[in-house]
Amino acid sequence: EKGGYPHFMLKEIYEQPRTIVDCIRGRINPDTCEVKLSGVIDHRDRFVNARRIIFVACGTSWHASLIGEHLVESICRIPVEVEYASEFRYRNPIIREDDIVVAVSQSGETADTLAAVELARKAGAFVFGICNVVGSSIARATDSGAYIHVGPEIGVASTKAFTGQVTVMAMLALAVGRERGTVTEAYYNEVSAALLHLPETMEEVLKVAPQVADLAKIFTYAHNFIYLGRGYNYPTALEGALKLKEISYIHAEGYPAAEMKHGPIALIDAEMPTVAIATPDHTYEKTASNIEEIKARGGKIIAVIARGDEQVRRSADFVIEVPVIAECLMPIVVSVPLQLLAYYIAVYKGRNVDQPRNLAKSVTVE
Ligand code: M6R
Repeated sequence: EKGGYPHFMLKEIYEQPRTIVDCIRGRINPDTCEVKLSGVIDHRDRFVNARRIIFVACGTSWHASLIGEHLVESICRIPVEVEYASEFRYRNPIIREDDIVVAVSQSGETADTLAAVELARKAGAFVFGICNVVGSSIARATDSGAYIHVGPEIGVASTKAFTGQVTVMAMLALAVGRERGTVTEAYYNEVSAALLHLPETMEEVLKVAPQVADLAKIFTYAHNFIYLGRGYNYPTALEGALKLKEISYIHAEGYPAAEMKHGPIALIDAEMPTVAIATPDHTYEKTASNIEEIKARGGKIIAVIARGDEQVRRSADFVIEVPVIAECLMPIVVSVPLQLLAYYIAVYKGRNVDQPRNLAKSVTVE
């Protein structure tokens, strides 16, 4: 059942080219690049007139939601908030009838997310679900939604669900952005074409696995890790750190790279490795100088860079090269080597990768 892989997690990481195919199937027209999500089409006016979108989620789904925030704000120009479901539900939040609450949950059974959905419905908001498990409680409790269709995820560490969630959010943003007239034709076509090619891009990025496995061997000694990214890849850094924490039991923190100088850089020494995401985007130069600052304090740097990058390569101790696509989709690509890094470090440390201590696949109690 693990398809020849030693763990479900590795199987699920390798499934991603195919799960992305399933996720976009029937939703993007390969000839016209047009994106169609029935859950949006059926409620077009709700989306066009939404005053605000509030994402509610936990864990990895919350990280995907932070990317969703960036996608929706930039493509649809609708203000977005991202809430931990557990905080949202107990805060007596302000929810209005022209708000859309998007509940993101792989299992569709997370107790806090389900409670947030119920609260939002009572307040009269329109609730949209992004779930994986068909017919799950959250999928049933929402007004509309889009499944991510990535198939059963068995490993406790979420991998293919995360990339599926971000893929659905990108399609959602494009579909709504077009209806609202907030996205240019050129950008719409660029991103939807990149989504259509994403399965091949995922095949491509998976080729880094042997190299990441070698890197992991070098870093099993570490007790702490920092993950840095900016813009779309700040949430990717948070997600990379969560993967490492939950399966290897190594303490890891994700930060927006520029925040380091506001405190955390004091932690840096030769024992505190940094994973820095420095793929080409509009903050590349800034990230490059943040990396220099860490290097100057004796930190070891593993940089995720674009193929052919020269600048960050010079300051990094180790590099992982990834293919480059539209900036807003880079978290999907970059998350793959981070999943693999966490996986191999956990394996070398002899951890129970698929069922880490103290964790359950779905958190059905609050
Ligand atoms: O099923 P959900 O997406 O609602 O689950 C939310 C979190 O419990 C989940 O993402 C958790 O953080 C994962 N173990 C992360 O890998």
